[in-house]
Amino acid sequence: METQVNEHVIKPADRMTALPTQFFAKLVGKANAQAAKGRDVINLGQGNPDQPTPPHIVAKMQEASANPMYHRYPPFSGYSFLKEAVAHRYKEDYGVEVDPATEVAILFGGKTGLVEISQCLLNPGDVCLVPDPGYPDYWSGVALSGAEMSFMPLTADNRFLPDYNAIDQEALKRAKLMFINYPNNPTGAVADTKFYEETVAFARRTGVVVASDFAYGAIGFDGKKPVSFLQTPGAKEVGVEFYTLSKTYNMAGWRVGFAIGNAQIVSLINLIQDHYYCSLFGGIQEAAALALTGPQDCVNELTARYESRREAVFGALERIGWKADRPGGSFFCWLPVPEGYTSESFADLVLEQADVVVAPGNGFGTHGEGYVRLGLLTSEDRLIEAIERIGKLGIF
Ligand SMILES: Cc1ncc(COP(=O)(O)O)c(C=O)c1O
Repeated sequence: METQVNEHVIKPADRMTALPTQFFAKLVGKANAQAAKGRDVINLGQGNPDQPTPPHIVAKMQEASANPMYHRYPPFSGYSFLKEAVAHRYKEDYGVEVDPATEVAILFGGKTGLVEISQCLLNPGDVCLVPDPGYPDYWSGVALSGAEMSFMPLTADNRFLPDYNAIDQEALKRAKLMFINYPNNPTGAVADTKFYEETVAFARRTGVVVASDFAYGAIGFDGKKPVSFLQTPGAKEVGVEFYTLSKTYNMAGWRVGFAIGNAQIVSLINLIQDHYYCSLFGGIQEAAALALTGPQDCVNELTARYESRREAVFGALERIGWKADRPGGSFFCWLPVPEGYTSESFADLVLEQADVVVAPGNGFGTHGEGYVRLGLLTSEDRLIEAIERIGKLGIF
């Protein structure tokens, strides 16, 4: 007797198909294909810190990993000692006072929190104001919540800051959340106190919640320390800041960050996390607490290293005749592509003919067209070599 086997069709939920495509997966594929040909590829297209975590933090993790207390489930919203360490760092660095118990949420890296806040605040039909160009993970959270995005163009004319007066009025009526990010990925722009004051005033006027992504908060150049959104009077009433240890302490692989500011938003983030996770491994939390409360020379050294790399790159750019503005912070350079090229055609050309990977600006949004992003994430020699190879193409 024959039995009929029906094909078992697995149909993903609509939210899976609504997720934005991972633009940079294509870039990684192209770079790998070039390297597979045996070429010496210099990859400046990604944002992965190249230096190791400072040894005192690693040593703390080694010791803490043997602590049996951490082999058990951690408290749901994380250990209070880490939240206290976060509060300590914000007080020291920015003069900002927070209640560690209610105004700090521990995160599996900044990325997690940036996706979660959309899920906490947005319903289908709501609007989220998103910078263009901007970090693509903002789009992911908005897509998961079923809300819509309204883009705030960041242009060189306005120092890559959003113009709040230019926001579409219809979108603004439905807007509930906005992302800002300074020092900025991808443009390297920085924001000043006046911009954050305008942001708080805008949020008060419109009722929009501010999510300030301060992933590059430690990386400011030319003697200027980046300003935190929370330093602005009234900021805590209208939003939160997301911070990560990934960049400041070269801990990208450890996955640890935090949200800080408005207690109601912090509690919503903790609530959604109660359903997804049971906080980070205790050893990571202890090492992260030491990173925040221990000596900070490693942070100053790291910033000086990126600044020195920036100078090496801009020296080489000047020599080949590629005109661009220096970033004021972050570890990215935002470089205009020469006439006759698009972001992608130029990125393809330098990959194929110079074995250099840069990220095409249109991957960060339509206003990224006309630029490529270059990361300061390898040695000065390699950075200079990359620019010299591009110079030899004779385009500039
Ligand atoms: C602008 C920006 N925000 C947030 C993050 C998130 O970093 P992490 O998830 O490692 O904390 C990154 C990482 O590249 C970033 O560039």
